[in-house]
Amino acid sequence: MSAAIQTAVGSKVRVLSPATVANVVCGFDILGFALDNPTDIFEIELSNQKGVTIINKDDYDLPLEAEKNVSGAALLALLEDAPDVQGFVLTSEKHIKPGSGIGSSAASAAGAVVAANYLLGNRFSKEDLVRFAMFGEKVASGVKHADNIAPAIYGGVTLIRSIFPLDIISIDAPPLHVTVVHPQIEVRTSDARQILKQNVLLKDAIKQWGNIAGLVAGLIQHDYDLIGRSLEDVIIEPVRSILIPGFDEVKSKCKAAGALGGGISGSGPSIFMLSKDAETALAVEAVMKEVYTRIGLDFHTHVTTINQQGVKLI
Ligand code: HSE
Repeated sequence: MSAAIQTAVGSKVRVLSPATVANVVCGFDILGFALDNPTDIFEIELSNQKGVTIINKDDYDLPLEAEKNVSGAALLALLEDAPDVQGFVLTSEKHIKPGSGIGSSAASAAGAVVAANYLLGNRFSKEDLVRFAMFGEKVASGVKHADNIAPAIYGGVTLIRSIFPLDIISIDAPPLHVTVVHPQIEVRTSDARQILKQNVLLKDAIKQWGNIAGLVAGLIQHDYDLIGRSLEDVIIEPVRSILIPGFDEVKSKCKAAGALGGGISGSGPSIFMLSKDAETALAVEAVMKEVYTRIGLDFHTHVTTINQQGVKLI
């Protein structure tokens, strides 16, 4: 943990930080993967001033006070472990809309700490960076969870077996195409967590852990049918899907169009679907467009693939 600072005050690092899909249907708070698109851009420089100065270069009007800003809170946690460093100036250019359900806050927290770590000669491990970035997630949703942060930092599909202590496992998944639709309503993660039931029936828990185990096995064995069969959530989705207009229709029609399966992305309102090939992913996008055009709700779609690298230098 004690590497000398390798860059002078004023040196800059720029990174791309990816959107992520948390939960992956049945793995609430323990599974996630990174997307090749969309991405945020962060630029960071060392400063002689104590603390973190935030500059926003987008229209989202996110808080400038470091303690209340997701990137800022993550960087303040990192500074606690870097007593030789005074502070940072972080310029944030967000393209992942806050409140969309594709890990906007995680991209902010992960992008900031990975960029800072480059400036500091990569003195921290990926696990340390997840630990710092979770302070940002706490600002965003009131609780520390790593199912967006870990894939944003590690890339690929990650399993978070435990967060206290951190135990993160990268899963070697087969090629997957991802289609995301973001209906333009806002669902706050904190609200989407508050409406969840605190108790689970044993029969539901048995189904859920069967599906999680099946999904992880399907990903590792590159067994697309097993992945599809396991993309079922009997605990969280029945409660949260009520907040998303058109959810049931989108899901059933996308599966009829050939998707392996999918569901709510993170805490919503985005919905994601996994497909085996690019052609199916585009057919799934057409279904999503048709449903939301008919319902009369504005939306954005992304057709993309799983990002294998996580936050990267540009
Ligand atoms: N696992 C978290 C949740 C992800 O579903 O609340 C939030 O993006």
